[in-house]
Amino acid sequence: PQPWRHVCGFRSRSSSAVMAEEAKKLAAYAAVDNHIQNNQVVGVGSGSTIVYAVDRLGKLYCKCVCEGARQLILKHGLSLSDLDRHPELDVAIDGADEVDASLTLIKGGGGCLTQEKIVAGCAKHFIVIADYRKDSKALGQQWKKGVPVEVIPIAYVPVSRAIARRFGGEAVLRMAVSKAGPVVTDNSNFILDWKFEHAQNWKEVNTAIKMIPGVVETGLFVGMAERVYFGMEDGSVKIR
Ligand code: 5RP
Repeated sequence: PQPWRHVCGFRSRSSSAVMAEEAKKLAAYAAVDNHIQNNQVVGVGSGSTIVYAVDRLGKLYCKCVCEGARQLILKHGLSLSDLDRHPELDVAIDGADEVDASLTLIKGGGGCLTQEKIVAGCAKHFIVIADYRKDSKALGQQWKKGVPVEVIPIAYVPVSRAIARRFGGEAVLRMAVSKAGPVVTDNSNFILDWKFEHAQNWKEVNTAIKMIPGVVETGLFVGMAERVYFGMEDGSVKIR
């Protein structure tokens, strides 16, 4: 049997509902146990679910390539590396905002989509971890904030108009919680959240948006995820 089909004892938990936080932990622990071994070079994303993956990685000896969770990596005694030294990663693990039936993801709720897509693209295997709320038949059914698009700051208005004109909906500049100004990414760019109106051919849309001058990257991860682990409400782990 393929090793990732075996879910390390988590299925035998009580059937009582677990909260989303517990579900994140279930997914993260199962994915690390099934896909990551000692001495591997591991790409690590960011977000609240990845915290549990790093916690589990702490029992292994591996090198991590990570921008969004550097302090967390160091806190767990893991060694940090980068893409200069390790441009090829054994595996990358990350969270997602929504996952559809074809394993297309929306990512970038935390704003780190570009670096996370680069890291995932350098990995032989890209594994996603999420709680049951991210599990969706079609994008937009669960995640209502739209597709993040990272843009060069001077281009945010023309890019926003181009997206709305070509694909419908509305692409809105993401503002800081304080409303004092726009969110600025780890690459010193802005983020547009494109609230689309209907399902699309995500592969074509992703390519087309990337062709608009001023677009750096989109939060659509198409054809990248190899496996997705969902921690479920009943304490099981669903693997897609
Ligand atoms: C950050 C991301 C995160 O992976 C995504 O937002 C999921 O976060 P969380 O695990 O907190 O739900 O893409 O840009």
